[in-house]
Amino acid sequence: MYVWSLLAVLLSVTEAVSVEQRQKVVRSFNVRRNASSDTTPLQVGNGDFAFGADITGLQTFKPYAIMSTWGWHNFSLPTTPGQTSPGNFTGLQWWTHDRLVTYEQPNPAQNDISNWLRENPHRLNLATVGFSFGNQKVTEEDLQNKTQELDLWSGKLASSFIYNGSLVEVETWSDSNSDTIGVQVQSPSLGPGLGIFLDFPYPDNQKFNAPFVGHFNLTSKHKTTLTPLSPNSAQIEHTLDETTYCTRISWSPSQGSIAGPLPNTHRYIFTPSTPLIRLTISFSPTPLPSSPPPSFTSLISSSRDWWESYWTHGAFIDLSRVTDPRAASLQCRIILSQYLTAINSASSFPPQESGLVNNGWHGKFHLEMNLWHTLPFARWNHFSLFHRSLPHLYSSLLPSSISRAKMQGYKGARWGKMTDPITGRSAPGEINSLLIWQQPHPMYFAEIEYRSFPSSYTLQRWDEILTASADFMASYAYYNSSTGVYDLGPPMYPVSENTNPNTTLNPTFELAYWRFGLAIAISWKTRLNATIPAAWVEVRDNLAPLPIENGTYVTYEGIEGMWISNKTTNDHPAMAGIFGLLPPPRSGKPLDMDVVKKTAGKIKETWALGESYGWDFAMLAMNELRLGNAEQAVEYLLHPIFEFDDAGYPVGGSRVPTPYFPNSASLLLATAMMAGGWDGSEGHQGHWPGSWEEEGVGVEGFVPGL
Ligand SMILES: *[C@@H]1O[C@H](CO)[C@@H](O)[C@H](O)[C@H]1NC(C)=O
Ligand SMILES: *[C@@H]1O[C@H](CO)[C@@H](O)[C@H](O)[C@H]1NC(C)=O
Ligand SMILES: *[C@@H]1O[C@H](CO)[C@@H](O)[C@H](O)[C@H]1NC(C)=O
Ligand SMILES: *[C@@H]1O[C@H](CO)[C@@H](O)[C@H](O)[C@H]1NC(C)=O
Ligand SMILES: *[C@@H]1O[C@H](CO)[C@@H](O)[C@H](O)[C@H]1NC(C)=O
Ligand SMILES: *[C@@H]1O[C@H](CO)[C@@H](O)[C@H](O)[C@H]1NC(C)=O
Ligand SMILES: *[C@@H]1O[C@H](CO)[C@@H](O)[C@H](O)[C@H]1NC(C)=O
Ligand SMILES: *[C@@H]1O[C@H](CO)[C@@H](O)[C@H](O)[C@H]1NC(C)=O
Ligand SMILES: *[C@@H]1O[C@H](CO)[C@@H](O)[C@H](O)[C@H]1NC(C)=O
Ligand SMILES: *[C@@H]1O[C@H](CO)[C@@H](O)[C@H](O)[C@H]1NC(C)=O
Ligand SMILES: *[C@@H]1O[C@H](CO)[C@@H](O)[C@H](O)[C@H]1NC(C)=O
Repeated sequence: MYVWSLLAVLLSVTEAVSVEQRQKVVRSFNVRRNASSDTTPLQVGNGDFAFGADITGLQTFKPYAIMSTWGWHNFSLPTTPGQTSPGNFTGLQWWTHDRLVTYEQPNPAQNDISNWLRENPHRLNLATVGFSFGNQKVTEEDLQNKTQELDLWSGKLASSFIYNGSLVEVETWSDSNSDTIGVQVQSPSLGPGLGIFLDFPYPDNQKFNAPFVGHFNLTSKHKTTLTPLSPNSAQIEHTLDETTYCTRISWSPSQGSIAGPLPNTHRYIFTPSTPLIRLTISFSPTPLPSSPPPSFTSLISSSRDWWESYWTHGAFIDLSRVTDPRAASLQCRIILSQYLTAINSASSFPPQESGLVNNGWHGKFHLEMNLWHTLPFARWNHFSLFHRSLPHLYSSLLPSSISRAKMQGYKGARWGKMTDPITGRSAPGEINSLLIWQQPHPMYFAEIEYRSFPSSYTLQRWDEILTASADFMASYAYYNSSTGVYDLGPPMYPVSENTNPNTTLNPTFELAYWRFGLAIAISWKTRLNATIPAAWVEVRDNLAPLPIENGTYVTYEGIEGMWISNKTTNDHPAMAGIFGLLPPPRSGKPLDMDVVKKTAGKIKETWALGESYGWDFAMLAMNELRLGNAEQAVEYLLHPIFEFDDAGYPVGGSRVPTPYFPNSASLLLATAMMAGGWDGSEGHQGHWPGSWEEEGVGVEGFVPGL
């Protein structure tokens, strides 16, 4: 009996998942709606460009966004004397180990330029495209029999409804190679009473623009110009201050016309004169795209091919044979997260936390969150998506990061925090300037890449980045002559951004991550047969010990009342990350496993998870997996506060709006660990709850974790 069930386990977990089975599993989670959501669209897109639709397949009643990696805008600079240019910003000096160090923090004497630097550039909502109903006032409630299905396997959004007694059928697609949507509408009503509008908003300086981005009533602040290009195409140039971009619209058959703008708006109306119309709408930062936009038919083939290839070539998890109802919930989260991260996060620069759905933090991205966003593409064997931003992201930020380190009196490169593809500037902020856990991320990325591509090409292209990262890490660590160890901080903010930076010393996660990062930088030099900087070895081997109080790891050394006060048992429980997200140390003092286990237990018992950001659940799940508790890992991944909506969008919560994509990415990272294992987990049981393994989990193609 025992032998048979063991054999069944071995067979079931290694079984390949056929293309037909993958398709069946993926399509079983196609999203169906019969009304617009107030918080999330249904999207089509390609990672660098996405279109968010309401129930009509367009943006008729809910102005969800069309966003890109390249579309950004600046408000005009302040005119306050002495604050008229980015170069006027001085930041603040804080005492740091007996010397004054300049941090990119808002200087109260320079509020205007500090705010400007934080709010600019911000990401644009390129346009809104919806149905226009002639001179009728129509609401969503006036449409009958509304149905909608998003086909995950092909990237097709099909919508239909009845308007004025006749059926309107809509298909919405995105090109996989350009910033273009394809729309097909079929209805006897098409004509002057049912056309399509394009409208162009002006941006907003709020930190969060959700659920909608931009204003449609600030008409005099920006300009649009319509230029006919041919009998079936036209271009609209949109100028907002210094930013200009173009929208090109083509229609087939060629009967139809576009006119506008309507008075006091930037709204244009396309009026079809056939009962079936196919449109392509392309966006581009330049007026004359070097290659013409794709035709509707080539666009839909590119979408079909891209998605089929995505679903058939990466790793896969098939839980369909498992009868535990939790398996179906987890499978649903996995499939929808795969779809949404491919659209919103697989970009040529890291995504913002809300992807291409709406704006959070002005549309900028956060370098510390980039580990969540980008690592899963490698673990799910989608290296082509991983390589869209890596390593060029770090190469492009290297000059500004070297300057930052130099200004602060450190060696190497200090990576910024909240930034954008254009300026590489780290947005002014106290937390922004004092966070350090983004620093070893390049080591994690490089190492995971090297395991799949162990070539001198990989070694060479990461070498400069890793060297600059490690040089900073070694020089940032402060040699404490009374204790004889290297300290991290103060001042600093750890992963949980809720401590006093002036007393935060030697946080558990950062110490472990420093040791991990330096160890990889050292093995990189070994692989290259290059000289290993002595400082890296010295710091790796003499970092302060991980702080332990009463048999548990604590947030940082000297924290008072860690498990007693509820002020310290909320925010990110990063102590769990040292044995989960991170592998145990490869050299030097091992982790005390009794302490690791007791810490996991204390977190489970006392942590205020209601105030957690979602990725905490994935971090805790990975900790439980390494501890052999697959059952508890599943409980964390399905925790009611780790919430996803009907279309798989990660629900934000009290501190961030919806969607909050680090949750989707972290779920994929934790499930990659369940499915693909990690160094040293080979042959161990317990990556899945026991009954799941007995019934048969289909798993294929994962890149194992470190
Ligand atoms: C719309 O969908 C909801 C939930 O999916 C369902 O309960 C409801 O019956 C549907 N309404 C119509 C009119 O189909
Ligand atoms: C905005 O201003 C920055 C300087 O802060 C500049 O580098 C950039 O090109 C400007 N334009 C856009 C669209 O970001
Ligand atoms: C602010 O920047 C402008 C433009 O670079 C420069 O002319 C001016 O002198 C600067 N003012 C101060 C107080 O630094
Ligand atoms: C930390 O120290 C800086 C000056 O070095 C001070 O401005 C800041 O208010 C202090 N923060 C706290 C929370 O004590
Ligand atoms: C709309 O849906 C209702 C209920 O399913 C159905 O009876 C009716 O025939 C539909 N109307 C049209 C025009 O399809
Ligand atoms: C509704 O359809 C009828 C024909 O079925 C047409 O005469 C009328 O103009 C349409 N109304 C609108 C507002 O389009
Ligand atoms: C302009 O639109 C915004 C929403 O984007 C709204 O809050 C505001 O009240 C409108 N202002 C006017 C004058 O209509
Ligand atoms: C040296 O370490 C001890 C214990 O961690 C700490 O209290 C002290 O402030 C450190 N000394 C300096 C100069 O940072
Ligand atoms: C390092 O040296 C070893 C042994 O001489 C050699 O096999 C290897 O190719 C070298 N690696 C690189 C990246 O030069
Ligand atoms: C350790 O336990 C003692 C006794 O219960 C308590 O006074 C102390 O605050 C605890 N320390 C931490 C860091 O929780
Ligand atoms: C901590 O506990 C107090 C008293 O029970 C409560 O009022 C407060 O909301 C709690 N705070 C947190 C962060 O959980």
